[in-house]
Amino acid sequence: MVFTDIHSHYIYSVDDGAQDIDQTLTMLKAAQRRNIRHLLATPHITEETDQAVSDRILRHFEIVRQKAKAGGIDIELSLGSEIFFGSHIDKHFAFPWATFNNNGKYFLFELPLFDLPTGVGDFIFNSKLQGRTPILAHPERYLYLRNNVSILLGWYRQGCLMQMNAGSLTGHFGQKVADFSKKLLSMGLYHFIASDAHDNNFRNYKALEEAYQEAALFLEDDELERLFHINPQKALSGSPIAQREIHDDILKESWLRKLFSPLRQIKWHRTG
Ligand SMILES: [Fe+2]
Repeated sequence: MVFTDIHSHYIYSVDDGAQDIDQTLTMLKAAQRRNIRHLLATPHITEETDQAVSDRILRHFEIVRQKAKAGGIDIELSLGSEIFFGSHIDKHFAFPWATFNNNGKYFLFELPLFDLPTGVGDFIFNSKLQGRTPILAHPERYLYLRNNVSILLGWYRQGCLMQMNAGSLTGHFGQKVADFSKKLLSMGLYHFIASDAHDNNFRNYKALEEAYQEAALFLEDDELERLFHINPQKALSGSPIAQREIHDDILKESWLRKLFSPLRQIKWHRTG
């Protein structure tokens, strides 16, 4: 499998990801060994992100590109961001690296882990109105969604795309997150699986390959291709990504039965 990864923190000294250029290059070499061919850097944008931080990200990204090329690392490197949701989130789109490859079409955003903020639906609505498609990072990690999948389904139907963390599926964030990520995967809610790699230790690129092996136990090959490569490529190039129609009935069905009996006969509702 060739992987395209739309979420990781390999640019050094700009957030809680790679701390120096050596760590960046070690991460990129590990990504190459895992057959990752295209890697989007997604440094965090928060309320504290200002022009100086933006300049540093652009400068460090250019250095990473040059050093990677000089070091024989054969991975396409792109720049985007992971925007923390907040009341002033719209102002962040002034940064040229806010959307994927500055395509103005796709961007990644994250929510607080423990408390559901107000205004997410309005934000998704307004983003779509402005021609930008939001991608929600790791919904399986938000505690308040665990017993409220209908909220997530509502955002999905508004046109928000969903990205699973590879480590969620493989148990890096605990069994409950792993179970919830399988539930959402069985519902067909995800468009992407990405590494969210921060380092070479706990949150690394190896998780992507491990998640692929786990997902291959119950998903067809064409679905795996979509999640790990085709949809990520479309998001990077700014091309349209199809949404499946998901009926309310799926909330009532036993996802465990759908997932395991029989494993490879999940029925998807496709719109594209
Ligand atoms: Fe992240």
